[in-house]
Amino acid sequence: MEKRTFTRRQVLVTTSVGAIATIANWPFKSIFFAGKDDSKLAIHGGKPVRTESWPKWPVWDRSAEGDMIEMLRSGKWWRGGGGHVAEFEKQYAELMGAKRCLATASGTTALLIAMHVLGVDAGDEVLVSPYTFIASYNAILLSKALPVFVDTDPETFTIDPNKIEERINDRTTAILPVHIYGLPVNMDRVNAIARKHNLKVIEDACQAWLAEYQNKKVGTLGDLGCFSFQNSKHLPTGEGGALLGDDDEIMDRCHAFHNCGRPYGSVKAPTPYPTRGSNRRMQQFQAVMLMSQMKRIKKDADVRLENALYLTSRIKEIPGIIPYQLADGATRSAYHYYPFRYKKEYFNDAPRKKFLVALRAEGIPCWSGYGPQNKYGLIQEALNSRGYKRLFSEERLRRFHEENHLPGNDQLCQEAICFEQNMLLGKKSDMDDIATAILKIYENRDKLV
Ligand SMILES: Cc1ncc(COP(=O)(O)O)c(C=O)c1O
Repeated sequence: MEKRTFTRRQVLVTTSVGAIATIANWPFKSIFFAGKDDSKLAIHGGKPVRTESWPKWPVWDRSAEGDMIEMLRSGKWWRGGGGHVAEFEKQYAELMGAKRCLATASGTTALLIAMHVLGVDAGDEVLVSPYTFIASYNAILLSKALPVFVDTDPETFTIDPNKIEERINDRTTAILPVHIYGLPVNMDRVNAIARKHNLKVIEDACQAWLAEYQNKKVGTLGDLGCFSFQNSKHLPTGEGGALLGDDDEIMDRCHAFHNCGRPYGSVKAPTPYPTRGSNRRMQQFQAVMLMSQMKRIKKDADVRLENALYLTSRIKEIPGIIPYQLADGATRSAYHYYPFRYKKEYFNDAPRKKFLVALRAEGIPCWSGYGPQNKYGLIQEALNSRGYKRLFSEERLRRFHEENHLPGNDQLCQEAICFEQNMLLGKKSDMDDIATAILKIYENRDKLV
């Protein structure tokens, strides 16, 4: 990209007329036009833009305490035949527009169940987005399959659909698209490719509750969708997860597998354990917490969406700040993080790390997002193991390394910056603080390095 630096005047000239009007009306115009001392960066001893705290997460609703105590006193703590867990499954399926839900111990176990039931076996290959939490890779590796990374589109932060087909071979069994940060993947493209090559689609929607693709909830668009309810999530219960699916036979098999291989529905019992399985069950207290948390999830999602769109409108004209773009067909993000990209060329070549330190000093918590995990130690460790050497030829493992170069993903890992979801639960003025701080740093970019 062409290297450009801007003076304040050039910023005004190079943005559209509408944007100039917007800037003039910004609450941070005082910084924009104020004297030098007032706009001194906090890292250099200036006054931070913000000193107030941000909305806390998770939020406990005391009205659930009666139900929690009753459940504890009942002594019925494991899911057994159903109870609160079955009630939660019904409510979550309804909320998401799915036929069936199976509650699980975690998002990771949901992914593992999905892969087993959909036939991902030792020596298979699974196409996966590299830009994700490490659990997506681990679930494939624990299934003794090869995670084959498909490059990321840095604009959308999600799998690049144009790069999927070139990675398919006769061992490929499934595609695992990840709706990372709650940003929906282009599911029409993924599903069309999967149909063409007879592959299963397991959606990793572990960060994407109520996100929508063509106005349908993500996690209901592939063969199975997986969710996490870990402590930081929008529907939190410490640890927990769920699978969504519309096929009764597949969901019966998921249930049987998650319950040590005991019969369930169409999984019938000529013997007590007709199928392999594992204990991946949710506990009753988790379901009671989830049903209480679920009361706020839609309202929270609306607040996050409104604030995210507002924040985008505020920062998109700042040179070098590139907000996320929704993939084609995506209609709503869940914003588990609010992501954007930082182009250092517009900030006097100040490394992202400097920008992050400066932004934090202004009272705006921020994170650099995921690293290039496709190059992390776990991959080498797995591929060097006895099992993987038995399952995959030397030639295949060599080619895996050759192909493990993902320019789009590398670029994103260098440029991404994220705000946590709880920051979006505040007021518009909180978003103004974020925009003010970013613009203040832009204004002082010559002093950043
Ligand atoms: C994208 C993604 N996939 C999978 C998981 C795994 O979920 P859990 O931590 O509930 O096992 C997470 C959890 O953070 C996640 O963010």
